[in-house]
Amino acid sequence: MIVLVTGARSGFGLLTAVSAARAGHVVYAGLRDVSTADDLMRAAGDLTVHPVQLDVTVDEERKAVVARILAEHGRLDALVNNAGIAMAGPLEEVAEADWRRTFEVNVFGLWELTRLVIPSMREHGDGCIVNVSSMAGRMATPCLGVYAATKHAVSGLSEALRHEVRPFGIRTVLIEPGPYKTDIFGRNKRIADGVGDASSPYAPLVGALEALSGKAIDGAGDPQDVADRIVRVLADPSPAFRHTMGPSTVVRRLAKWGLPDGLYELVVRTTIDKAKP
Ligand SMILES: NC(=O)c1ccc[n+]([C@@H]2O[C@H](COP(=O)([O-])OP(=O)(O)OC[C@H]3O[C@@H](n4cnc5c(N)ncnc54)[C@H](OP(=O)(O)O)[C@@H]3O)[C@@H](O)[C@H]2O)c1
Repeated sequence: MIVLVTGARSGFGLLTAVSAARAGHVVYAGLRDVSTADDLMRAAGDLTVHPVQLDVTVDEERKAVVARILAEHGRLDALVNNAGIAMAGPLEEVAEADWRRTFEVNVFGLWELTRLVIPSMREHGDGCIVNVSSMAGRMATPCLGVYAATKHAVSGLSEALRHEVRPFGIRTVLIEPGPYKTDIFGRNKRIADGVGDASSPYAPLVGALEALSGKAIDGAGDPQDVADRIVRVLADPSPAFRHTMGPSTVVRRLAKWGLPDGLYELVVRTTIDKAKP
């Protein structure tokens, strides 16, 4: 298969690009800045992975990559929309520019790239679009509302897309990881300006969420599991739509589905209150 993976500098994207190459696919690995391909190339070793300049928010770069792949192979069989950023902070304290940037990367970049690959997949009557959402696309936690809003958008558009493009032989799949140890919690951690100020009315909430997210990061999973799942999905002629995976995701999913809304809210509220400093 000819596969394009976005956000391949680190984390799920890097591991998916390398694992897909190991599985025998021709892999184009999109990087927001192609000069940062060192870790990717080191991880690829003897495997062939093609690093390509692809900031998913830049229209010319999206078009150039898709045009190059179609010129070189005449087809693009799979798109893994992995590139994404998080944004932490109470909704009121996240600046408009940060709201917009998070939507530009996680939603509009993802969608505009997807729009570009559908025609060729339709022409070949075959294709696979894998969208990396999050558990935050199913349930929102305080101080991650902007991120959750983008991932809910990804989940919603993917569910509609699955039905719209299925008649053309295109499979749409949603990956919904819980916490995994990647650069999203380190080098790429994004916190809204001013968050953590003791004078903020949200200071106790922020303190509680910091304590809870510290615990979640300590128990975070191995991102290779997510990459392996994505590579399995690529080879599956009829993959399930949702792939929820990661520590505590089953319990959280069952709680959200199984409990009445009011009781679920009470569980969340009690957990946060207990963690308040
Ligand atoms: N790790 C988790 O716990 C977790 C859980 C649920 C969902 N996810 C989702 O998984 C995906 C991958 O994240 P990760 O955990 O692997 O974190 P990561 O290591 O920070 O990887 C994110 C990747 O996205 C790239 N990226 C950011 N902005 C971009 C842009 N405008 N254009 C192209 N690439 C861009 C980053 O490149 P640069 O570093 O060069 O900016 C990086 O390669 C994201 O969609 C994230 O929301 C992660």
